[in-house]
Amino acid sequence: MIFGATGDLAKRKLFPSLYQLYRKGEISKNFAVIGVARRDWSHDTFKSHVKDSILTSIGKDENIDEFVSHFYYQSHDVSDSNSYVELRNLSNDLDEKYDLQGNRIFYLAMAPEFFGTITEKLKTEGLTETGGYTRLVIEKPFGHDLPSAEKLNEQIRQSFSEDQIYRIDHYLGKNMVQNIEAIRFANALFEPLWNNRYISNIQITSSETLGVEERGRYYEKSGALRDMVQNHMLQMVSLLAMEPPIKLTTDEVRSEKVKVFRAMREMTSSNVDEFFIRGQYDNGEVQGTKVAGYREEPNVDPNSNTETYVAGKVLIDNFRWAGVPFYIRTGKRMTAKATKIVVEFKEIPMNLYYHPEKPQHPNLLVIHIQPDEGVTLHLNAKKSGDKLKTTPVNLSYSNKGINGINTPEAYEKLLFDCMRGDATNFTHWDEVKLSWSFVDTISTYWESTTSKEFPNYPAGSMGPKAADELLDQDGFKWWPVDGFDVDNC
Ligand code: BG6
Repeated sequence: MIFGATGDLAKRKLFPSLYQLYRKGEISKNFAVIGVARRDWSHDTFKSHVKDSILTSIGKDENIDEFVSHFYYQSHDVSDSNSYVELRNLSNDLDEKYDLQGNRIFYLAMAPEFFGTITEKLKTEGLTETGGYTRLVIEKPFGHDLPSAEKLNEQIRQSFSEDQIYRIDHYLGKNMVQNIEAIRFANALFEPLWNNRYISNIQITSSETLGVEERGRYYEKSGALRDMVQNHMLQMVSLLAMEPPIKLTTDEVRSEKVKVFRAMREMTSSNVDEFFIRGQYDNGEVQGTKVAGYREEPNVDPNSNTETYVAGKVLIDNFRWAGVPFYIRTGKRMTAKATKIVVEFKEIPMNLYYHPEKPQHPNLLVIHIQPDEGVTLHLNAKKSGDKLKTTPVNLSYSNKGINGINTPEAYEKLLFDCMRGDATNFTHWDEVKLSWSFVDTISTYWESTTSKEFPNYPAGSMGPKAADELLDQDGFKWWPVDGFDVDNC
């Protein structure tokens, strides 16, 4: 059951992803999807909507009609019990028709203020009482801060237990984010070096060229910190920093990630300025097109104090990482759309190739998350004939990714995991709780102090100057994200 089935997410991501799974044979013929939303649509209107979405994102294919024949529609009022009774009857009929054995997934792809009501009614009206499994998939944002997330969690826990809840962070469905663990734990080469003896710093950048588009109303209350840092960015930090789990099972992986969140150096109102900086885009030019500043966007306050850019230094106070900064940065309207992780290694103890005019390049391991997917290892070699100078060389592996925003591929993986009952790539409540408590101090401080410099970076740039200073003071610099020509760095 997809609540919010007439919305954008369902159209752009969920239907195409389900179709891909169906086409690959990952979904059997015994399935039905009920689209649930307010609009007064018929089953047929919904089916043609689903078909359109697939044709738009994937193109023509032979079995689309067969696939969409499994789709049904229920016009629904979330607060009306009768709607749930109708939904239950339809579900029971489909259960029988397709021999579903009572297995149900409830996907909430709609505004979070309805999550509590929906989950409560699903239980009281008997939709969760089946002979099979019942699972709840929840889209972000999971709360607005720790208190609201706690309240939401309490509400949904009345009807679903933690192991039935699948909180989506679509970054965890990205191919190369999932590969962080494989790179670390399947290679004898890296794990021995993966600590503060050999790594000087780690940089995670997720830059976007888009502005807030039509989402001004939501974004004004969210900002980049809640929109990107609390979830996606900190999730990547936890995967990079966690200890090797004893097994790759859901519980083991999550418990190692939770330990990272617990070891993150707590922010206080007096140290936020030292560790985090914020930015807001001004008008400018993105890839040759003139664009408006954030304060001129629809539904945005002309004096807005909302940040569209965040850069920060996260310290992890444990044995492995003491003294190694994890720098993160993310923003809208930047130079390029790219997500990359750069692991910078320390200098070798004694440089036999020391050259005053040509300092040796540090070894870097770059994990390209998007748009290109792959890994690059930056090494130093010697040109023939040159006895004293080294020159950087790259070992690269590139896996051509789908160049798009929130590629359906991530949703495809996550939907498949949920159907199989594998919650490893979803966020546990403990992770959500700890990450909110980390960012809450920063957002409370920022909300209490108006930034006098806003707007402080032109659209189409890599963010405010202060982000460079953040690394400068530690003797580092951001490695570029678009293209990676080390000779020019
Ligand atoms: C979403 C944010 O979670 O992630 C958006 O709400 C952002 O504001 C998006 O644009 C970025 O995702 P991706 O997959 O394009 O990097």
